[in-house]
Amino acid sequence: MTLKIFKIMGLIEQIIANAQAEKQRIVLPEGDEPRTLKAADRIIADGIADVILIGPAQKIADMTAEFGLKNIGKARIIDPKNNPDRQKYAEMLYELRKNKGMTMEQAEGLAENFMYLGILLVKAGEADGLVSGARSTTGDMLRPALQIIKTVPGVTCVSGAFIMFLPEGCPYGTDGKMVFADCAVTPMPTAEQLAEIAICTADTAKNIAKIDPAVAILSFSTKGSAKHEVVDKVIEATNIAQERRPDLLLDGELQADAAIVPSVGSSKAPGSKVAGKANTLVFPCLEVGNIAYKLVQRLAGAEAVGPVLQGLAKPCNDLSRGCSIDDVYKLVAITCNQAIAQKQ
Ligand code: ACO
Repeated sequence: MTLKIFKIMGLIEQIIANAQAEKQRIVLPEGDEPRTLKAADRIIADGIADVILIGPAQKIADMTAEFGLKNIGKARIIDPKNNPDRQKYAEMLYELRKNKGMTMEQAEGLAENFMYLGILLVKAGEADGLVSGARSTTGDMLRPALQIIKTVPGVTCVSGAFIMFLPEGCPYGTDGKMVFADCAVTPMPTAEQLAEIAICTADTAKNIAKIDPAVAILSFSTKGSAKHEVVDKVIEATNIAQERRPDLLLDGELQADAAIVPSVGSSKAPGSKVAGKANTLVFPCLEVGNIAYKLVQRLAGAEAVGPVLQGLAKPCNDLSRGCSIDDVYKLVAITCNQAIAQKQ
């Protein structure tokens, strides 16, 4: 357990140092949420990011005084109900969504909504990333992000990865870590989408988990051992991903044991460069990914950090509603790292 905490701390410290070295602007749409506001104070004090808080200005001022926060004065605060730029954002939203049937009146209303406004700031380039979710559901943030920020060029499918910190003594993964995806967003990906998820997850493993990815696209079949249309989908996804990113160490279709256990990998998939040593697991659909990460977390005692949303044109990340101040702080640092990686 101690070693696991040490590994998490090691990675988080590295992520924090990266964020401090190249400060990004992060918008926190739930600016009047207590854990978010307290985290913002620490983020500013530690030089992790330049913070934009969205929320009622007077309420934020009252809470700042009540909590004795010393650094909130350095944040940019935007009151959505009293925003001199409201019309600018409404027009921007209208232009982006009019072909989907949005009216100017609807856009003006949404430009006063804290989440839409946060997403619009990111879209406008006034913020480099967004973190929310202490009070809102995943869908509340994902929908406007998908509608407005959209995906990074070359990607059509957003997904969510977890960095899994494995228990001490676990022989799998790299440096005690694995990356799992998609565990959060796309219920039933096509072969094309699954290939994109695999590629994005490899990039998350490298840029955020700081491991050299060995990516396995998983199935209940290893190299033709079973025939079914869902296996065909995994084979097709593997072919697409390998063709698109020949630089990646990536293989499929592999069963979970063939992917991570060297002896099983060499007997079931001889010649595979990934079998037996995969550290980045891509699941065939969201049901499998979501169930798998929760079981590994509960049954094996792994620590799951995420979901890190991947594939969005600008990084936006979602907190659990049960999050701590520390969770907000860390997710902001992770979001900064994503923003930095996207600019490289
Ligand atoms: N990638 C990219 N764009 C997408 C995706 C995706 N995966 N899904 C939807 N979109 C786009 C659509 O193209 C559409 O764009 P448009 O309006 O410009 O045409 C827009 O997003 C909205 O699409 P809808 O289909 O109307 O959105 P929907 O209401 O289905 O919501 C959502 C999308 C929220 C991602 C939905 O698929 C969902 O709920 N996914 C599961 C989330 C979840 O519950 N995860 C598990 C819990 S999280 C956890 O345990 C860690």
